[in-house]
Amino acid sequence: MRIAVAGATGNIGTLTVAALERDGHDVVRISRSHGVDLLTGSGLDDALTGVDAVVDVISSPAADPSETVPFFGTCTRNLLDAERRAGVRHHVLLSIAGVHRVEGNAHYAGKREQERLVINDTVPWTIVPATQFHDFPAMVTSWTEKNGAATLAPLLIQPIAPADVADILAELATGTPQGRYTDIAGPDPEDFVDMARRLNEARGHKLKLIPTWSTAFGLEMSGNTMLPSPNARLTPTTFDTWLTQQKKP
Ligand SMILES: NC(=O)c1ccc[n+]([C@@H]2O[C@H](COP(=O)([O-])OP(=O)(O)OC[C@H]3O[C@@H](n4cnc5c(N)ncnc54)[C@H](OP(=O)(O)O)[C@@H]3O)[C@@H](O)[C@H]2O)c1
Repeated sequence: MRIAVAGATGNIGTLTVAALERDGHDVVRISRSHGVDLLTGSGLDDALTGVDAVVDVISSPAADPSETVPFFGTCTRNLLDAERRAGVRHHVLLSIAGVHRVEGNAHYAGKREQERLVINDTVPWTIVPATQFHDFPAMVTSWTEKNGAATLAPLLIQPIAPADVADILAELATGTPQGRYTDIAGPDPEDFVDMARRLNEARGHKLKLIPTWSTAFGLEMSGNTMLPSPNARLTPTTFDTWLTQQKKP
């Protein structure tokens, strides 16, 4: 099959391209560095020529709903419009487990807008809600790291290995549209602060961790809120197994 990956150069995009190519598919890479800008739509029609399915794993660094909602909204509209013109038969969107349970987070507001547009479009779709990735602590602590210390919320999460996410996206993109897929999650619940500590140790990164709910993740994300639904599809790679693959610089 000919499959386009939007966000092909990102964390999950790179792994999804690799999984699809490993399985013998013809992959089209969509990202600004590959000459396609989803915000303007430039390069999209050419990129989608002959494409059967699209996997959307784009992301935005913005941290305010006044930016995330227009970003995800405009990119998704442009992508779906071009898919209809090109006759694409399946749109696969990577979303976040529990995205409808947490109102206050800016990124989540953008993801809900993406989901809304996908669900209301005529292009057949699959939405894949994933829990946080194993490298999530590195991303979160990088937002506030200063003078050897960083803040982070003491979340309870059930993280998933990025490569396991990519394998599932590749599997679903080559199958029939499923609508909202079951949550996908790693095998074990984890304490987020403890994960950050273990990851920094594995990477040889010295960092003082300051737990607080006064961050991008507030009290509405406490308790079991971030855990996957009971019928989640669990993937094999534990956080500890993934840690053994992390290199010290
Ligand atoms: N982090 C987590 O724990 C987690 C958990 C569940 C779900 N998710 C979801 O997973 C998705 C992927 O995350 P990620 O960490 O893999 O993202 P990422 O590494 O930040 O990659 C983002 C990708 O989007 C592309 N992009 C950004 N703006 C673009 C534009 N205007 N036009 C075309 N491409 C554009 C980037 O390429 P260029 O810069 O070259 O354009 C890049 O390839 C996100 O939507 C996120 O919500 C994340």
